[in-house]
Amino acid sequence: MKRTQHCNELRPAHAGQTVTLAGWVHSRRDLGGVLFIDLRDREGRTQTVFDPADLPKEVFDAATKLHSESVIQISGKVRARPTGTENSKIPTGQVEVLVKELAVLNEAAPLPFQIDDPEAAARVNEEIRLQYRYLDLRRPEMTRNLRLRSKVAIATRSYMDEQGFLEVETPTLFKSTPEGAREFLVPNRREPGTFYALPQSPQQFKQILMVSGVERYFQLARCYRDEDLRADRQPEFTQVDIEMSFIDREDIYSLIEGLLKRVWKTALNVDVPTPFKRLSFDEALNRWGIDKPDTRFGMELVDFTEEFRASSFKVFAGAIAAGGVVKAINARGLAGATQGQIETMTETAKSFGAKGLAYIKVEKGADGATVEWKSPIVKFFTEAEKQALTTKLEIQEGDLILFAADQWLNACEILGKIRLYCADVLKAQGKLTIDPNRFDFLWVVEFPLLGFDREQNRWYSSHHPFTAPVAEDIPLLKTDPKKVRGQHYDIVVNGVELGGGSIRIHQPDVQKTIFEELLQIPPDETKLRFGYMLEAFKYGAPPHGGIALGFDRLIAILCGTSSIRDVIAFPKTAKGTCLMTDSPSPVSARQLRDLYLEVKAAKKE
Ligand code: AMO
Ligand code: AMP
Repeated sequence: MKRTQHCNELRPAHAGQTVTLAGWVHSRRDLGGVLFIDLRDREGRTQTVFDPADLPKEVFDAATKLHSESVIQISGKVRARPTGTENSKIPTGQVEVLVKELAVLNEAAPLPFQIDDPEAAARVNEEIRLQYRYLDLRRPEMTRNLRLRSKVAIATRSYMDEQGFLEVETPTLFKSTPEGAREFLVPNRREPGTFYALPQSPQQFKQILMVSGVERYFQLARCYRDEDLRADRQPEFTQVDIEMSFIDREDIYSLIEGLLKRVWKTALNVDVPTPFKRLSFDEALNRWGIDKPDTRFGMELVDFTEEFRASSFKVFAGAIAAGGVVKAINARGLAGATQGQIETMTETAKSFGAKGLAYIKVEKGADGATVEWKSPIVKFFTEAEKQALTTKLEIQEGDLILFAADQWLNACEILGKIRLYCADVLKAQGKLTIDPNRFDFLWVVEFPLLGFDREQNRWYSSHHPFTAPVAEDIPLLKTDPKKVRGQHYDIVVNGVELGGGSIRIHQPDVQKTIFEELLQIPPDETKLRFGYMLEAFKYGAPPHGGIALGFDRLIAILCGTSSIRDVIAFPKTAKGTCLMTDSPSPVSARQLRDLYLEVKAAKKE
């Protein structure tokens, strides 16, 4: 017998037909001698009925011995379920199969965790789920994620194909280039002391492909970064990587808006309005304190620099006198914040170098009628200052007002972090709800080309060193690098950085200035690391630019999960390990010898 249908296919119209189904024993119930087994395959579930009155004894006995998740195949007749026993929750809930034949294809051992109940499965420790990932992936929620990922990959490929892009594979045994994150190295057996590096992204190859005249390249590219892992970061991850020639920023915006429109329609049947809003880096920082703002809720940063310039509160006046700003947010409904919560927020402020975090709790006064500002700093405020706060922050009872007095960027970033923390607390308390079907897409543009690293006393690229400056800012490269804006853009949705890219430098002399004069990479190192690129650019590099979207993050957003581990078939833990295969793992002395490697210390603490 060979299977005739999958487990999500049978409907009342099939009644009377003899069918063969195969799959896993999802659940079983014994009802007065009759055995009901829900059979599950990738597509869904069908109820099967083993009636001892209808079956040879050995078949029925075999069925009673079946464990959950054993693999079986059954043949039998489809019939409508008796009235009152239908299950409206599943598409096959109107019918059942009365079993005539059973083949046990493989017995399953007792399970390390229950997988037939979504709530029970959700409570299982993630480490156990990762160790037995093959069982975890049988859960319908996980199957749905894999299926959606596949569907979106296909939709992406067909959209890119329609737009005239070629999918080109680039090497994953690459060369070490000091660009951003730490790299994974692969020793070369043929020449001791030399290494490949796994690419952090196909950045350099895709630019070279533009020199090759490919004009429109894309790839679902695997990237590797040895960085600290979080829910939204894995050591290996996938990008929808894109590069185009003879274009400007507007072409990238409309290409990506079209792609995301297609993806949202395909995956969720949602029509995403385009074009997306655009925010400058300055505005994003000023209003939300972060370069990837979640604009689905308010609590925006409000500036009080002018109001407090002459304040008798020295923390504020002092910061302003030093060229800084005073900013505040109103966390509505958080006046009851605990001491622990205030401390957590104060620690955040301190991690940015601030001495503290001034705040006001707006609570009911002792008389029960008036509203009182509970805060050690209010005594320093004049009536006019208080009035300005009340008006601009729309202060009312129950509010928690938080202040940052610092240099502009620091003050913004402190409140940006605190804003997100307050939102999480308010969400947990049910005081802030966000519609799960809301998607706030936006472009963040006009990033500074360079940042300055005080410790190392040198400039670094905000995006990467191939990013072109805004044309009119090029003269500033020599005079005031801080002011140079990059032709860099990030695509953000609901506070997640989904992707980023830039228009590239295609003139070798500008590229050399960036490497050598601003990033202070010594010329011999530039030659060693990027020489091939500078060389290639001599032979007719077209103007070009591109972008990469984090594919795992994209799928996680579509699936409504906060962890990209849920949308990667075999992810690594936060420590970078694969619990299923137990990797990374030691290798034999012989393998090390072949690679001319020696392990100095077994473990670094
Ligand atoms: P960037 O470094 O900004 O740009 O990466 C692009 C996008 O890739 C995703 N991403 C990650 N996803 C999961 N785990 C990680 N560790 C991880 N790191 C990054 C993010 C991010 O926005 N070559 C450039 C692109 C370009 O300029 O065209 C690049 O890699 O969603
Ligand atoms: P101090 O005068 O140093 O005791 O600080 C008075 C209040 O201002 C305390 O509540 C501090 O937490 C707070 N504070 C100190 N530095 C800052 C700052 N840079 N921004 C905001 N509040 C601050």
